[in-house]
Amino acid sequence: MLPKPQIVNLPVYQPGKPIEAVKRELGLTEVIKLASNENPYGCSPRVRAAIEAELANISIYPDGSAVELTEELASHLGVHSNQIIFGCGSDEIIALITRAFFLPGDETIMADQTFSVYKSNADIEGAISIEVPLQAGTHDLEAMLQAVNDRTKVVWICNPNNPTGTIVPEADLIAFLDRIPGQVLVVLDEAYAEYVTDPSYADGIRLLDKYPNLVVLRTFSKIYGLASLRIGYGVGQPAVIKLINQVREPFNTSRIGQAAARASIADHQFVAECRKKNAKGIEYLNGEFDRLKLSYFPAHGNFIMVDVETPSQEMFQELLKLGVIVRGGFSKYPNSIRVTVGSESQNQRFIAALEQVLQQRKVRV
Ligand SMILES: Cc1ncc(COP(=O)(O)O)c(C=O)c1O
Repeated sequence: MLPKPQIVNLPVYQPGKPIEAVKRELGLTEVIKLASNENPYGCSPRVRAAIEAELANISIYPDGSAVELTEELASHLGVHSNQIIFGCGSDEIIALITRAFFLPGDETIMADQTFSVYKSNADIEGAISIEVPLQAGTHDLEAMLQAVNDRTKVVWICNPNNPTGTIVPEADLIAFLDRIPGQVLVVLDEAYAEYVTDPSYADGIRLLDKYPNLVVLRTFSKIYGLASLRIGYGVGQPAVIKLINQVREPFNTSRIGQAAARASIADHQFVAECRKKNAKGIEYLNGEFDRLKLSYFPAHGNFIMVDVETPSQEMFQELLKLGVIVRGGFSKYPNSIRVTVGSESQNQRFIAALEQVLQQRKVRV
């Protein structure tokens, strides 16, 4: 066998343990998962009926170009239909961009630390990832600009950034876009955009007319609560979207996913309620972290990175024993965990568990 040399030593993605497995192994009856930034309120109640109506067509291939969904989303976003591409989650759009743009040896710039899927896909294509350290948990756009050279194909900006939750203000983003060479594609990953309430946040879609080298990624997995249906999208100028479409598989989103997404776009109230409850959850968690004297990054998505002053893998295990699954293991932040903002009761349970672990550790010292 002769695989591509660059993939031989790549790790296989290790998913988090499912709730059922944790319950069984630890003998727990109640486990909450605050590890994957899912929506604790589920999805719009309109989705069930949309899926049920689509069940009659399950044996028929989906519309590969998702024409109806594209038109509805285009009108929702105020763009043209030829500016949108759908994927099996925005994960797939990331993969398609790397497939369309990278030759082995090309360079791509991203923050350190940011969403790991940019680098893993760049690795598969043999591209070299230039990882630029965050400053106070936020993208260092100036240093990222300095890293651009003739080999740079794509720059990734995750806004809000996963895992730190920070945002780059609109003025900084515009100054960056004004200076980056036009042949470099800028991917602005706005997976959590609908959660953001800070007025300094840029709506990337509004910048597309001015910057033809910009692509914005969004998803139905987060505030819309359709993570299991795998549907996300990219928005850009028609020429860029066409290139990405040329490397897309014919039927990369399902009928059920498309139907659910259409029902979700129409339910503005559900999105507004989730945004409001999430903002309240952030406020509560920040207050509790202050009380516990723990530092945290300003959160703008539906998750918070908090420094628990304990190796994150140990904290992860201790919280797991109490039935709370969080995310740790971020190499740049070894003592921090990332916790999804849950429902009010989930947040309270998480804080009670965290406080218990911190107290136990204090007694042991
Ligand atoms: C920043 C960011 N981008 C993209 C994704 C991918 O989401 P999906 O593939 O479910 O659309 C995630 C998921 O966690 C994310 O955090």
